[in-house]
Amino acid sequence: MTSSPWSQTVERGSDGALSVGGLDVRDLAAEHGTPLYVVDEADFRARASAFRGHFSAAFQRHGAQMDVFYASKAFLCSQVAGWMHEDGLSLDVASLGELEVALRGGMPAHRIGLHGNNKQIDELTRALEVGVGRIIVDSFTEVDVLNELAGSLGLQAPVLVRVTTGVHAGGHEYIATSHEDQKFGLSLATGAALEALHACHDAPHLNLLGIHTHIGSQILSIDAFRESADRMLRLRAQFTAATGADLPEVDLGGGYAIAYTEGAESLDPADAAVAIADAVASVMEDHGGTWPHFSIEPGRAIAGPAGMTLYNVGVVKQVSLDEGGSRQYVAVDGGMSDNPRTIMYGAEYAATLASRSSEAEPALSRVVGKHCESGDIVVRDVDLPGDVARGDLLAVAATGAYGRSMASTYNNALRPAVVAVRDGRSRVLVRRDTIADLLDWDVPA
Ligand SMILES: Cc1ncc(COP(=O)(O)O)c(C=O)c1O
Repeated sequence: MTSSPWSQTVERGSDGALSVGGLDVRDLAAEHGTPLYVVDEADFRARASAFRGHFSAAFQRHGAQMDVFYASKAFLCSQVAGWMHEDGLSLDVASLGELEVALRGGMPAHRIGLHGNNKQIDELTRALEVGVGRIIVDSFTEVDVLNELAGSLGLQAPVLVRVTTGVHAGGHEYIATSHEDQKFGLSLATGAALEALHACHDAPHLNLLGIHTHIGSQILSIDAFRESADRMLRLRAQFTAATGADLPEVDLGGGYAIAYTEGAESLDPADAAVAIADAVASVMEDHGGTWPHFSIEPGRAIAGPAGMTLYNVGVVKQVSLDEGGSRQYVAVDGGMSDNPRTIMYGAEYAATLASRSSEAEPALSRVVGKHCESGDIVVRDVDLPGDVARGDLLAVAATGAYGRSMASTYNNALRPAVVAVRDGRSRVLVRRDTIADLLDWDVPA
């Protein structure tokens, strides 16, 4: 389906300014400063609940249970962890830092899964000590390290094995057999995944719960999920046939596509839930055996469209193009430090003049940051009114995922605050960095 990249409560008022969560963006900027990440709480939580509701219902039709783990790498702070707990989701974390924030937010440890291709001893120790529900093992080294560590702590480590199924999807494409030349998981094709399952099964201090896979990002193809479920369930059946042991958990990962620009395609969770549950049911019929407990891990599809970034416009330049015509360069007070996705992935975004409306002719524009890189681009190509000027506010849509969580302090930038808005009120989720913070991290001679 096609979607809007803006969150549900974004509106343009009669005076032309945008509002979100019932608050005028000019007031938000005045109160919290810019750049500013704004999270539409109602939208974020509605998306989370939609995933949970649609997927639970679709799997329940087949008599099966399903959990949704919010992939917190998309964006995490303790209040968001609290929302996810209240809304009945679990949490996927991928570092000690994410684990600590999740715990601070009140997410029960048994509803947390720990990921990572090179987890450190302190991360594994803390995860075991607090009693996380699952550790997703990613290598034979980790099988040994975790078994030994759990033994030394007198504990059993609950584990899933991360499987590279050979299905790769993303960027609107799906490849049934992808290259395996990447760092995550254990290969199904080479037999490494099966071998790792045996190793976990035989390890005295590991409690083997099941298998996990994650096939990519920005996935629009249900067929990709169907194919990966098929391969995962075949592996599960093979393991049970060899050992007689049941694997009660199968996690199919995240990757649900969102719209970054107006009218772009996204994967509707309601449709995806039914299609994936039906696909899994037909695979289960082929393979027989008991249904496992399924889980998925959407990140971007919950956090992405719920967030926008507000910037203050500084310098505006007209630059001549070699092919004729000109481009309006609109420099804002942030850039690649608060949103590295454009420079990293060539990501596309929608932007709009947010503090007023304009009757001026639209001009081919590029929104750029204030950093010392010519690639410091926030939005590569967008039509903005030709009279955009210093002091205007610009809003960039769908920056809620992998924005603040990937932000850097390049040029000693101060990372922006994140505020949640809801029903006419705003609340700081993450405060802005300050010069005092920067000087604090710096150790003078
Ligand atoms: C293991 C795992 N699960 C879930 C996700 C979330 O993906 P997305 O935000 O595209 O839904 C990721 C993203 O990298 C991941 O690595």
